[in-house]
Amino acid sequence: MRIVQTTRLNRRHFILELHSPEGLPLMLPGQFAQVRVGDSPSTFLRRPFSIHSVDYGKNTFRLLIQVKGEGTRHLSMLREGDSLNVIFPLGNSFSLPNTKEVLLVGGGCGVAPLLFLAQFLNQNHIRPTILLGFRTKDEVSEIDEYAKYGTVHITTDDGTEGLKGLVTDHPVLRGERLAFKKICCCGPGIMMKAVAKIARDHGTDCEVSLENTMACGFGVCLCCVTPTDKGNQRVCVEGPVFNINRLKWEG
Ligand SMILES: Cc1cc2nc3c(=O)[nH]c(=O)nc-3n(C[C@H](O)[C@H](O)[C@H](O)COP(=O)(O)OP(=O)(O)OC[C@H]3O[C@@H](n4cnc5c(N)ncnc54)[C@H](O)[C@@H]3O)c2cc1C
Ligand code: FES
Repeated sequence: MRIVQTTRLNRRHFILELHSPEGLPLMLPGQFAQVRVGDSPSTFLRRPFSIHSVDYGKNTFRLLIQVKGEGTRHLSMLREGDSLNVIFPLGNSFSLPNTKEVLLVGGGCGVAPLLFLAQFLNQNHIRPTILLGFRTKDEVSEIDEYAKYGTVHITTDDGTEGLKGLVTDHPVLRGERLAFKKICCCGPGIMMKAVAKIARDHGTDCEVSLENTMACGFGVCLCCVTPTDKGNQRVCVEGPVFNINRLKWEG
């Protein structure tokens, strides 16, 4: 794929917009792409990234990437016109809720699949509430984009924007009654477990998108498995999206 645009959002996050010379296949929110990173020995394995948004008209999709280590640092240095070898779309997707009372919860780079999910819900006449958690004001980005598709609430760890605290401290997830019949969540494991507990306590349906470390990304190496009610399942094939009732999370 050819990179048609790179956008630096802040010190740690950037967006790659990728153009396919052929028509894009149908992609669903929650699915991911496996990106090959140069040919350095330390980045031999592809790196997985959620589909952040799709434009079928332009034959492009976007990845929102947080710089973590060697691979993402290398990707952050790519420029318009460079090529990338990408396997996509991989994995399953969030299911279409049978209710209009939907809450999307994202934290850190776990916000990435939620923009595509919000777009998809809008196309299906659902306007979700979107709760996004960031470390600090400098990392709050693309709020206008999310706001096109739903009502957005923000938390920051240091209180520099939105409500101070974690997403689970926000009033939309607090209170005796939860106003939502479906929660879709992606972010750090500890955050998803906390959101899952709130959902379970209120009897609310909840799906989470796991970001287990992956190698192949298409089901052969078994390094990404997670314990479920059907035994160990591959996050890259049977996931990354799981209903919380299916997961055997310890802790
Ligand atoms: C299905 C899926 C979707 C993802 N979507 C996104 C996305 O949209 N945007 C994004 O920025 N990141 C996403 N990630 C995480 C991303 O793949 C890793 O951050 C990336 O592979 C790190 O590569 P690196 O070479 O920069 O870091 P490495 O040098 O490989 O690792 C640097 C640090 O990051 C940690 N790390 C590596 N992989 C993961 C992982 N999968 N989860 C948590 N920590 C990890 C390592 O343990 C290490 O501490 C996703 C992961 C999965 C499995
Ligand atoms: S990453 Fe290889 S089986 Fe999932």
